[in-house]
Amino acid sequence: MARPAVCLLASLSALLLGVAAVSRSKGRQGTESQREPRIPSQFSQEQRIAMKEALKGAIQIPTVSFSPEELNTTALAEFGEYIRKVFPTVFHTSFIQHEVVGNYSHLFTIKGSDPRMQPYVLLAHIDVVPAPDKGWDVPPFSGLERDGFIYGRGTLDNKNSLMAILQALELLLIKNYIPRRSFFIALGHDEEVSGINGAQKISALLQARGVQLAFVVDEGSFILDGFFPNLKKPFAMVSVSEKGAINLKLQVNMTSGHSSAPPKETSIGILAAAVSRLEQTPMPNMFGGGPLRVALEQLANEFPFPANIVLNNLWLFRPLVSRLMERNYITNSLVRTTVALTMFNAGVKVNVIPPVAEAIINFRIHPAQTVQEVLKLAKDIVADDRVQFHVLDAFDPMPISPSDDQALGYQLLRQTIQSVFPEVNVVAPGTCIGNTDSRHYLNLTTGIYRFNPVYLQPQDFRRIFQARILEWVAKSISRDLRNPGIKPASASAPAS
Ligand SMILES: *[C@@H]1O[C@H](CO)[C@@H](O)[C@H](O)[C@H]1NC(C)=O
Ligand SMILES: *[C@@H]1O[C@H](CO)[C@@H](O)[C@H](O)[C@H]1NC(C)=O
Ligand SMILES: *[C@@H]1O[C@H](CO)[C@@H](O)[C@H](O)[C@H]1NC(C)=O
Ligand SMILES: *[C@@H]1O[C@H](CO)[C@@H](O)[C@H](O)[C@H]1NC(C)=O
Ligand SMILES: [Zn+2]
Repeated sequence: MARPAVCLLASLSALLLGVAAVSRSKGRQGTESQREPRIPSQFSQEQRIAMKEALKGAIQIPTVSFSPEELNTTALAEFGEYIRKVFPTVFHTSFIQHEVVGNYSHLFTIKGSDPRMQPYVLLAHIDVVPAPDKGWDVPPFSGLERDGFIYGRGTLDNKNSLMAILQALELLLIKNYIPRRSFFIALGHDEEVSGINGAQKISALLQARGVQLAFVVDEGSFILDGFFPNLKKPFAMVSVSEKGAINLKLQVNMTSGHSSAPPKETSIGILAAAVSRLEQTPMPNMFGGGPLRVALEQLANEFPFPANIVLNNLWLFRPLVSRLMERNYITNSLVRTTVALTMFNAGVKVNVIPPVAEAIINFRIHPAQTVQEVLKLAKDIVADDRVQFHVLDAFDPMPISPSDDQALGYQLLRQTIQSVFPEVNVVAPGTCIGNTDSRHYLNLTTGIYRFNPVYLQPQDFRRIFQARILEWVAKSISRDLRNPGIKPASASAPAS
């Protein structure tokens, strides 16, 4: 996954230490010197090197998902061999069961000593999006380390999580660790193209076994550092929901004609007016309830005057903050359903008026709205019966997982983040703009949390979301179209 926005117990806390350790290998120029070393001192020099080499080796296997039908299955099979080689203890521990699901996905069942405790799942995915040939500082599957950074597809999305989870478990097992609470590790192989043969099959298997989960932890949000100019300290965002999506085809059929005697209105003119109305009329600003408001309130005291006063008094300043959020295209995408015109097709000949014009609109649905509500709004905005609506594919936003004091998964995550990253004062709920494998686990739990313990700074963000944005957008659109069965977003990119 996943786009901006933006994993409990002694055992998981230790797991996350491992996660943090590998993330550090990505390094941080400039701020690095001010920070505590991320690889805890209990690890030897050899272990540090081994962890980094393990990640580099994972990046070097080109587990690309080109489309739902076209995966590099050679690489996926090779990846299965690779984790067996790098994490031998995980594969040879009596209380861990390993299963291959959907030919290339992996499910590990780690049996805890206390069967009364409800298990949880840690998710990560093996596949990456395709890498265009051009525009890379270093080759995308090199896993090269340069200036303290490891480069390549999957360094942030999502082999970092995958390797860290297995690495942490391997190191703990060597120290004779036995968890009290059982847990699963589920590694999907087709997240980037829907998760239907990976995550969905694993989820179905767990459902068939009657499993109920305490919570799920997946990729999705980060520790955000320097995103707000006035916010001195980094804060962690744990996504508790995901936006929904619709791919909508608009079509206008008129009679064909010759350009020498044109009718008053043409299919192209009617459709152009309709899409223009959609673009000019933003969907309603939904800022007010939900995770974003909670997050801003929690962050309030981190801001200097007057922002702290404003955010502490949203009952009064809500309209102001709501307008400010609209100004920037990223924060705007957090407060409303976005409408993106992605394709427009009509005409084949310079002097023929085409009978049919078609456009495709990609909506990303705010968690407070549904597919049906957005379609109704869009129809009202278009307000022209000659424009036919064809929904190519659509899904509702994910339900909002609890983040209150009683929410076990969320609270464990919060405590763990704060103990591993002492400089992080605030852990706030957020909404994921992209989509993840976790949506296949809805039947198993109400607590789905998306968090990747990686520092993200605006310059990394630009690296991910601007330098490669055009190639990436082009790829994801063609992927969405070839795959009218899901999957938007989920940017992968060269790690900074
Ligand atoms: C698929 O992966 C193998 C290595 O596992 C690699 O040699 C091959 O070039 C890859 N194919 C494509 C089309 O990327
Ligand atoms: C798994 O592999 C078998 C044999 O190659 C194939 O028939 C089957 O479709 C594959 N299943 C999935 C989910 O890819
Ligand atoms: C509009 O034109 C397309 C392409 O020719 C055709 O498939 C579709 O059935 C037409 N729809 C209507 C309502 O005439
Ligand atoms: C959830 O459970 C319902 C009822 O058993 C089933 O129809 C549905 O397919 C399940 N959804 C997923 C995503 O597993
Ligand atoms: Zn991902």
